Amino acid sequence: MRRCEFTIRRAGKADAEGLVSLWRKLVSHHEALGDRHGLSPDAARTWTKFLREHLRAKTSAVLVAESAGRLIGMGMASVRESPPTSTSRRRGTITDLYVEPEWRRRGAGKALVAVLLEHLRALGLAEADVTVASVNPAAALFWEKMGAVERRRVMTIDLGAAGGESGAAP
Ligand SMILES: CC(C)(COP(=O)(O)OP(=O)(O)OC[C@H]1O[C@@H](n2cnc3c(N)ncnc32)[C@H](O)[C@@H]1OP(=O)(O)O)[C@@H](O)C(=O)NCCC(=O)NCCS
Repeated sequence: MRRCEFTIRRAGKADAEGLVSLWRKLVSHHEALGDRHGLSPDAARTWTKFLREHLRAKTSAVLVAESAGRLIGMGMASVRESPPTSTSRRRGTITDLYVEPEWRRRGAGKALVAVLLEHLRALGLAEADVTVASVNPAAALFWEKMGAVERRRVMTIDLGAAGGESGAAP
């Protein structure tokens, strides 16, 4: 299969609409897998605000993969504070990684992750986390290939309350 028909670049404000469209597909992907994500009705607006904050933040990197002027993938890296008891107070986190189905297995995901990790290393961070939904084993295989190892499991108890909270997609 041919590779390198896409470029990876930093996203700008002008990409916001295209990024939100990819984010919607990322959410639909998780919904189709049966992920109980519990998005609020205004999740897209909340995510757009989250995106704008990260486009501005110096410690964040929002990347797009582009081919022939079309966005075919995206990924985001940012910095989170660890609890004061941790030796490394700041940790990298990678979120919102998505590649259009027809572009998968052509190296775009790997290329996005390489630049995101480079960004976090340049900030002097020692570790980067990624959250993978348990219903998404393909993504776990991808992340293992990227060098990620499972160190802890986040488990969830359904408290039976109606409604849901908004949040960023993994
Ligand atoms: C996960 C995702 C970003 C990977 O992007 P991609 O561009 O297809 O990944 P790459 O082509 O760079 O893959 C690199 C390597 O990862 C592994 N890999 C990727 N997808 C895989 C899959 N579905 N099953 C098993 N291994 C996989 C392979 O080893 C691959 O190398 P190879 O194709 O030479 O064998 C893409 O499948 C996607 O957008 N999925 C839907 C959204 C999603 O799950 N996002 C991640 C949320 S945590």
